[in-house]
Amino acid sequence: MTKAEARARVAKLKETITTYRYHRLVLDTPMVEESVEDSLKKELFDLEQEFPELMMPDSPTQRVGGKPLDKFEKFTHPTRMLSLLDAFGKQDLEDWLARLKRIDPRAGDSGYFCELKLDGLAIELVYKNGLLEVGATRGDGTIGENVTQNLRTVEALPLAIDEKKELVIRGEVFITKKEFKRITKTEDFANPRNLAAGSIRQLDPGITASRKMDSFAYSLITDLGQKTHEEEHKILHKLGFKINSHNKFCKTLEEVQESRDYWEKHREKLDYEIDGIVVIVNDDRMFQKLGVIGKTPRGAIAYKFSPRESTTKLLDIIVSVGRTGTLTPVAVLEPVEIGGTTVSRATLHNEDEIKRLGVKIGDTVVVGRAGDVIPDVKKAIVELRTGKEKEFVFPKKCPACDHPVMRRGIDVAYRCINKTCPAIKRESMYHFIAKGAMDLDGIGPKLIDQLMDTGLIKDPADLYSLKKEDFLNLDRFADKSAENAVAAIQARKTVPLDRFIFALGIPHVGSETATDLARHFGTLEKLAFSSLESLVTLRDIGDIVAKSIYEWFQNLHNKKLLEKFKKTGLKILTAETSQKSNKLQNLTFVFTGSLETISRESADALVRSH
Ligand code: IVH
Repeated sequence: MTKAEARARVAKLKETITTYRYHRLVLDTPMVEESVEDSLKKELFDLEQEFPELMMPDSPTQRVGGKPLDKFEKFTHPTRMLSLLDAFGKQDLEDWLARLKRIDPRAGDSGYFCELKLDGLAIELVYKNGLLEVGATRGDGTIGENVTQNLRTVEALPLAIDEKKELVIRGEVFITKKEFKRITKTEDFANPRNLAAGSIRQLDPGITASRKMDSFAYSLITDLGQKTHEEEHKILHKLGFKINSHNKFCKTLEEVQESRDYWEKHREKLDYEIDGIVVIVNDDRMFQKLGVIGKTPRGAIAYKFSPRESTTKLLDIIVSVGRTGTLTPVAVLEPVEIGGTTVSRATLHNEDEIKRLGVKIGDTVVVGRAGDVIPDVKKAIVELRTGKEKEFVFPKKCPACDHPVMRRGIDVAYRCINKTCPAIKRESMYHFIAKGAMDLDGIGPKLIDQLMDTGLIKDPADLYSLKKEDFLNLDRFADKSAENAVAAIQARKTVPLDRFIFALGIPHVGSETATDLARHFGTLEKLAFSSLESLVTLRDIGDIVAKSIYEWFQNLHNKKLLEKFKKTGLKILTAETSQKSNKLQNLTFVFTGSLETISRESADALVRSH
């Protein structure tokens, strides 16, 4: 990037982040997920590191959020409430320590205190003569809002303590996931953080009290003789503050990394939201010595989890062809980490979705995980456009075979209707061998590619006539592995009817419909010769599915394929003989989350077979 380009990008990023921040913090009506802002801030931070002359005092990287609203009395913090710099990965963490060591080579030597970074609202409490005198929000770090009345409603905060000295402590107020669920049954809030912030900045404390808030204390500003951050927490605990029992001392950065990785995996088991861990140089004297840069203490850093949403550049849109001929637009992305994995492709679903999102090639886009599994493009950040972005035009021809594509009636998808389309053939082969279908052990898409590319197979039936010698000519095959491959295919020469129907890849026929068809017709012949009328009358099978099944079996090409299967000696078990057991009869199964060793379709099929 040239300096001129960097200057333009920095200006746009600053403006966008400032708008987002204003909406989130001052107006309490966020425009985007906070992680989106974080990821833009990170880009800005990196650019400012690369071009230090572009760093201005008004940069969003240089300040702590929001002006106080006029509704509450203002409160000037006895000492400024600082903010933390974010680290997003191991490298950031190591860079942080390297910077500290330039100031004092012994920095970090006596370890770190790691705290869960609660996703709530920072507060400051002042106790005089043992009584809670003021409770305030952070505001802009220098001046916050006096929300004492509201904070008094938070049971986790002591109203009186056994210490006469004037005391200043800080902590986080938050709302539990359970409480969030309860409240959002009747009221609308985007996330627990928003609800916590909204509740504390409520003019009517009765409303605050009706929402059960929770709190952990995390720093003791007053000197009570503490030497380390860990001790600070112990003193706070003794004084009657709630501290987080998961916070812990870590000797090395490796231990810090382990702790962060642990919590990224296990955050779901907590009843409150966390978005990372806070890492603090444990030795208080060293912490003081390291000082403050801008509005952040050098001796602490927020080590964030990889966000569930992030921003990146949309480099291109390619179109892939599925086994039923469906054309799916796929976003080619500049690689970005989301939820712990690097994402470089995301689905754009279909033409209508691209139009709805209004994305153009070259856009900075927000990418997230749909149901936390498949990454998809959530929106385009139009504010960051340069004018060089290109409109995407959905192709009118199949990218694999050049055959014209069709979009019929209410269908959202374009389909390639060329029965001999190589992409469809290939995808159908992948489907045929997959776990939920024929489940050919040890035979995967890569091997299928080789077999198809060398002309050894043209359709799934060809698999059954493969010999050991055929495999020996392929990459990485030796005597034993070639024998195994043949054996794996032959081992599935007897197959339950429902699985075989599913494996055929008839459009609209998933494993559930395949099971229904197997039960109803009993044999493949009966299904193949069924009339459209008889298919339509089946329970759970609508007009579109019935027509699809009927057409599939009428197709000459498919008829030939079935003949070919017969000749290979494939034995198809009838519905009765194929049922493994009735152990699971009358039970209902629900699969949630991601399954590690088996696809959803396979799991479904497995349950059905019992
Ligand atoms: S220590 C110098 N510990 O994270 C600030 N902060 O920018 C020292 N936060 O809004 C903060 N959990 O309210 C610390 N266990 C924790 C925290 C925590 C959440 C928040 C804090 C502030 C932000 C830091």
